[in-house]
Amino acid sequence: MTLLKNEINIDFIKEINLLRKEHHAIILAHYYQIPEIQDLSDFIGDSLALAQEAKKTNAEMIVFAGVHFMAETAKILNPDKKVVVPDITAGCSLADSCKPDEFKKFIEKYPDHVVISYINCSAEIKAMSDVICTSSNAVKVVESFPKDQKIIFAPDKNLGNYVNSITGRNMVLWNGSCEVHDLLLLENVVKLKMDNPEAKLIAHPECKSVILEIADFIGSTTALLNYTKSDKSMEFIVATETGIIYQMQKESPDKKFIIAANDNCACNDCFHMKKNTVEKIYLCMKNGKPEINLPEELIIKARKPILRMLELS
Ligand code: 13P
Ligand code: SF4
Repeated sequence: MTLLKNEINIDFIKEINLLRKEHHAIILAHYYQIPEIQDLSDFIGDSLALAQEAKKTNAEMIVFAGVHFMAETAKILNPDKKVVVPDITAGCSLADSCKPDEFKKFIEKYPDHVVISYINCSAEIKAMSDVICTSSNAVKVVESFPKDQKIIFAPDKNLGNYVNSITGRNMVLWNGSCEVHDLLLLENVVKLKMDNPEAKLIAHPECKSVILEIADFIGSTTALLNYTKSDKSMEFIVATETGIIYQMQKESPDKKFIIAANDNCACNDCFHMKKNTVEKIYLCMKNGKPEINLPEELIIKARKPILRMLELS
């Protein structure tokens, strides 16, 4: 592991390891984190695996290297533990697209519908939901309801459309999207396919339906990683956030991974996920802040639909 030192010569990795012991801390990281953070974490996963890990941990401090809604979920599952984040401003365009007052009015229009919310939403939206899902289990969660059950699905319209197409349902969708996946353009992906005819196209269900329709495989971050390990192909065009390429390349060093970039950069980085740095992890562990705190009543309301998802998973 590389030693990361700044100009005043702090060996961040060594200090993080000392703080990890001192605070009985666990460092949880999403696959979209930079490689240095993935390497120093105790557990790396997709949104579902991270929620499951947060539910079972005995650690006294949870350091969440991801985005705000993920750390909130960890706090809701562990109200008595300290949950700290490297950067409190690391948010999510999907969560931001769904404001509680607007969502309340929206669901009031459909009184006979159950509310299924993608985990990429605030604690307030979770508290208004019947059950939560992630990209790993969205189909399963939706299928846990009878075929004739009317459903509102929020906040990701692309994931909602995808689940509608798989299950034959007609869920009412909130009009939100991920600024990373939704920006991917069909023409860029088609050009990559033409330039790399042997490569398989694999895509996250937060991508637009025009991209999903031409994908060889669609799945959550973990499912995409597992597919690249088990599939015989040697080349993959990856339509999701750049961070996952690090684990794909580590698991399959002989295979070639080509990121489907958006028009703004040569990568497909989530601006929020990439706000976290090794130095910020060191600082949040040392200072015990920024810390996630939520009102008790909100924790109680938001916990129920998360637990229901974990039971179904
Ligand atoms: P998963 O971790 O469920 O694949 O979702 C990806 C994502 O966008 C996380 O914010
Ligand atoms: Fe949100 Fe998209 Fe970033 Fe995930 S990748 S945290 S959905 S903005």
